[in-house]
This record gives sequence, C-alpha cells and structure tokens, in this order.
Amino acid sequence: MSTALAILGNGLLLSAFGVFVIGFIARMVGWYRIPVPLKIPTTPAPKTLPGVLSRVATEVFVFRSLFKADKALWVGGYVFHVSFALIILRHMRYFIDPMPRVVLAVQTIGVYAGFAMVLSLAYLLYRRAVFERVRYVTTFADYFAILLIMAIGITGLWMRYIDRVFVIDVKNFAMGALTLQMNSPPAHPVFWLHLCLVATLIVMFPFSKLMHSGGIFFSPTRNQRDNPRDRRYINPWNDTFPDPTEYTDGEYPPIDEL
Ligand code: HEM
Repeated sequence: MSTALAILGNGLLLSAFGVFVIGFIARMVGWYRIPVPLKIPTTPAPKTLPGVLSRVATEVFVFRSLFKADKALWVGGYVFHVSFALIILRHMRYFIDPMPRVVLAVQTIGVYAGFAMVLSLAYLLYRRAVFERVRYVTTFADYFAILLIMAIGITGLWMRYIDRVFVIDVKNFAMGALTLQMNSPPAHPVFWLHLCLVATLIVMFPFSKLMHSGGIFFSPTRNQRDNPRDRRYINPWNDTFPDPTEYTDGEYPPIDEL
C-alpha cells in the first residue's frame, strides 16, 4: 500500500513539476525568439537601460500600470500575489533542510496569507462574475484558474485547522521526491486532494494565462527604450523581405510571394 502511494505521490509531484519547468522554459524561449517589428514603448518612457529595468521592476513588484488603471482590481490582485508568494515561501519548509531564516521568518504570516489569498480570490471571482464589462471578456479558463487556486487554499487551511496532517511525513515525502528517494506521502485524503489540485495547477500553468508571470518581461510597450530619434530601429523582419532594388523594373513581387 505504502509503495503504491509512494509511486503515485512521487510520480504526480515530479511529473507535474517536470511539465511545469519544461513548459515554462519553452514558452519563454518561444517569446524570446519572436521578432518585435515595431518601436512601441508607451510614453513617457525611459531612454536608458537602467530606466527600462526599473520600469519593468515597478510593473513586476508593484503592478504600476494596474494601479493607475483600476484601484480596486489593484488591491485584489496585489493582495492575491503577495499572499501567494508568502505561502510558497512558507511551504519551502517542506522542501529545504535546514530551513533558511527567511522561511522561518514567514511561518506565521504565511498562515494569515492563506486567508488573505482565499479572500482576495473571492473578490476576483465576484468581479468577473458580476461586473458586466468583465463578465463579457471572461472565459471558462478564467473561472477555472481562480476556483482551482481557491480550492488549493481552502484544502490547505482545512489541514491546518480542521483535519490535521502530520507535517513531518509531508516533509519526508517532499524532500524524498526532490532527492529521488521516493518516500511515501501521508495517506490523508485532504492532503491528497491538496496535492492533486496543486499538480493540476502547475501542469496547466505553462499553457494558460498564468504565464503572464513570464510574459510581462516581453511586453514591448514596457521593455523598450524611447530612443528612436537617437538610434534607428530596424524591424528584424526586414531581412526576410526581398530587397526592392533587385526589382529594377519597379515591379514588387505579389504579396503572397513575399
Ligand atoms: C501552488 C502551490 C500551493 C499552494 C498555493 C498551497 C496553499 C496552501 C495554503 C493556503 C495552506 C494553509 C496555510 C498553511 O498552513 O500554510 C496550505 C497548507 C498546507 N499545504 Fe499547501 N499549497 C501549495 C503546495 C503544496 C505542496 C506541493 C505541498 C506538499 C508537498 C503542500 C502541503 C501542505 C500541507 C501539508 C499543509 C498543511 C500545513 C499545516 O498543517 O500546518 N502544499 N497550503
């Protein structure tokens, strides 16, 4: 029984993590390779590289554009993302030994973050379901991601307050998976539900809108310098177009031959 659980639990965690890492990298490489045809920074935009780096950093760390656009969504989104980060940091206690100081330091606040995450998700769900304009652009995938993460939070809090799991066994399992020792996970139904929901989330991550976490770095309106008057911007697609001077009769090839 415990061997079967070990195979199932480790297989689930490791294969899901594998799909996540390979999928995430593949999408990032794909975006990196796509040429950016236009110079389109949203002005006023920085002219220097440090300026652009700090602009992208303010987007990543304080959601600057969102703050300017929609204060209520900013609060909901910001609380969600910060809580999620704290929860992941708190969970590092299962995967790292000895625990780094920062992981120890966030243990208490990490539990509050669990509540904050579920509440902020409830607002994000409410907004999508109730505000007419938002509902119009909302798809099943949007509801699914919110409900899935909510369910992960609720099952986690359930284990913490209602049906406790022996966390030493969880650590044994998690560290065993990382070091390929394949220890058996606890046979605790809510823990298994938590684990299956987490596996679903990380498997779908690279193929979903959750990839905005990596895509933000490729946003040309944010990561370009406002320097087209100092330095000519050449469209990288130009090379693939024929040189017009080759067509001395003035005829340019039909568009479908380009
Ligand atoms: C996306 C990833 C995950 C999220 C968002 C998440 C979320 C949560 C939340 C909100 C809690 C309640 C607060 C707490 O006690 O920390 C929790 C508890 C818990 N989570 Fe997760 N979790 C994730 C991944 C995992 C994984 C991979 C494992 C196992 C290896 C795990 C095992 C547990 C356990 C055992 C508890 C109960 C802790 C206790 O009783 O003190 N979680 N989780």
